[in-house]
Amino acid sequence: MHLDSHWLTDDDAISPISVLGAEQRGERKDFIPYTDKPIKWHTDGYYNKPENTVRGLLLHCVESAESGGDNQLLDHEIAYILLRDENPDHIRALSASDAMTVPARHDAAGVARAEQPGPVFSVDGHGFLHMRYTARSVNIVWRADAATQAALAALNRILSEPTPWTLRGRLEPGMGLVCNNVLHDRSGFVETPSRRRLLFRARYHERVKASPV
Ligand SMILES: [Fe+2]
Repeated sequence: MHLDSHWLTDDDAISPISVLGAEQRGERKDFIPYTDKPIKWHTDGYYNKPENTVRGLLLHCVESAESGGDNQLLDHEIAYILLRDENPDHIRALSASDAMTVPARHDAAGVARAEQPGPVFSVDGHGFLHMRYTARSVNIVWRADAATQAALAALNRILSEPTPWTLRGRLEPGMGLVCNNVLHDRSGFVETPSRRRLLFRARYHERVKASPV
């Protein structure tokens, strides 16, 4: 229902994800999504304020790259279960309100985005699990206590190898992904002049509405 507005999105809050667009727009080229580089496991909008939590994610592929640009997907509820089975303390640690902090971002005018602490795992008012996570190590500050570090190591290990529930695929022209902002990554890719990868991305504050049984 509600698209998440983002400082890099077009006015309609739908982002074209492409390398070429980044060059044309100038400002985006420093951001990994707008390059051909791989992106580690994450959920979208992990740097958002709680009121702008991204619970729904939609990708639409207009053009795929000459090679690469695959996604792995893992439902974050499964990541939660695997972690909890291993040690419930991991869930407690990653549910702390300051488990993961995104430092403030500065631009020429000062603080462009305030420091954003928050939990990895949280449950919304309807009982649905949300996960806020990135495997990026730069620009992320994790709680330094042993419990958080142990939980983080366990999560990284779970994500480092495909699980029986990990999906892998590549969006081809006309294909799309609609999901409740599950964990995902992206492999690097190679473009040619006739095969430039272009995806449109929309992020929503609500989950995908369950269809009636
Ligand atoms: Fe993403």
